[in-house]
Amino acid sequence: MNTDSPVESQLECELPEPSDGNLFVSAYPPFSSWKSGRLSRLEKVLLTPPQHGHDVPLGLYVHTPFCLQRCQFCYYRSIANPTTETLESYVDAVLEEFRLYGESPALTGRRPSFAYFGGGTPALLSPHQMKRLFGGIQSVFPWTDIQEVTFECSPKTATRDRLEVLREAGVTRISMGVQQMNDSVLQQSGRVHLVDDVARAYDEIRRNDFDVLNLDLIAGLVGETEQSFFDSLRDVVLMAPDSITFYQLEIPANTPLFRAVHDGQIESLANWDEKRSRLSRAYDLLEGDGYSLRSAYAVVKDSSRHRFLYQDMQYHGCDLLGTGLASFSYLAGVHYQNVAVLRTYQEMVTAGRLPYHRGYVLSDEERMVREFILQMKLGTVKTAYFQTKFGVNVAERFAQPLQRFSDAEWLSVSDDAITLTRQGLLRVDRLLSAFYLPEHRELTYW
Ligand SMILES: C[S@@+](CC[C@H](N)C(=O)[O-])C[C@H]1O[C@@H](n2cnc3c(N)ncnc32)[C@H](O)[C@@H]1O
Ligand code: SF4
Repeated sequence: MNTDSPVESQLECELPEPSDGNLFVSAYPPFSSWKSGRLSRLEKVLLTPPQHGHDVPLGLYVHTPFCLQRCQFCYYRSIANPTTETLESYVDAVLEEFRLYGESPALTGRRPSFAYFGGGTPALLSPHQMKRLFGGIQSVFPWTDIQEVTFECSPKTATRDRLEVLREAGVTRISMGVQQMNDSVLQQSGRVHLVDDVARAYDEIRRNDFDVLNLDLIAGLVGETEQSFFDSLRDVVLMAPDSITFYQLEIPANTPLFRAVHDGQIESLANWDEKRSRLSRAYDLLEGDGYSLRSAYAVVKDSSRHRFLYQDMQYHGCDLLGTGLASFSYLAGVHYQNVAVLRTYQEMVTAGRLPYHRGYVLSDEERMVREFILQMKLGTVKTAYFQTKFGVNVAERFAQPLQRFSDAEWLSVSDDAITLTRQGLLRVDRLLSAFYLPEHRELTYW
């Protein structure tokens, strides 16, 4: 049943919601507008020491592109079941990349505010490889001022020996991909773990007393029903994680799921209305259980303790040094991305070259748009922030799309802030292109 108002229905047509492809926005301008080749502006940025008094926080991202097995739905850059030698040589390459950055005047002596180890599954590294990685990174960028260190795990890789190394190294936040607490759904998604593995891993993580334990869930997986989704949610709530990140299933073109859907092998999948309605009810239930919604995607138990610093800082324009295969960075207003072929990545760093292959130099206006759309994902955009930082009144600058979305009751605009409603938040990634500069609106994301 479609209960949209006429304004909503019209907007739904103007902002088509494709059944497949990627919808989640992580960068602006879209990757497809980034130019290949060397970036002279980036080379200049790296040679310029930060100006005193204009210190921008620095975050580190390290990508580990390996998993025990590839999930049917996953679009992340990842290789299944790597050998020990592959992992060893990958750690060598990442440390070489850090060493190269350590020589750059723009970064020398800077102390990161956060570090994020994502994947793939970084917890696939052995305890010894983890120690090597942390030691090598810290010898270039000491963690003396670090406020948050996140490490992604999967249930099968969250083992006692690894977790002890992570705790010892100063990891504050573990994020584990659970997806759903239902064996049949997990198996149909090609997950390598079952529900029992989650319970074991959860207890093991809790034993090590990390500040934050986050669980990732997906709404709309193959085999999921309304009933199974909420049964699964009940089991997650009983574990009492500090935060839960929710994704709505996307069907990106590079996944086995995409092929299965197009070959007619999948009988039924929840549509976007159903995914939103499940998440909306889930957020209501979680709010009743003492959680609060901190963004379009996450609920937290205690917003003062369970922070997503890596997100908040990026959304407010910090520098991000992304290392590893296919990682992207944002340094002094230059976005750029590493090569996505493992051999090329390793050959480039071994030859003493930074392994990026494409990038984009943002104008002041593009930086403003970038922060605006990223902050929309948090549910509230403070207008004074943009006035002070960019000299722009965003309520006036974006008056037209804001009015349309306000008519659809997806957001409201006051003197101080733009605030998304629940329905606005649940479809926020689709709304963002309306705020892009005209030349970026029609581009494909990748
Ligand atoms: C890098 S993985 C997390 C850690 C670990 N690899 C795991 O899966 O347990 C990041 C998260 O992205 C989400 N994700 C991956 N593919 C997705 C898709 N097609 N649609 C929605 N969410 C997706 C999953 O919830 C996953 O936990
Ligand atoms: S969801 Fe996680 S475990 Fe599955 S393939 Fe993607 S990165 Fe690997």
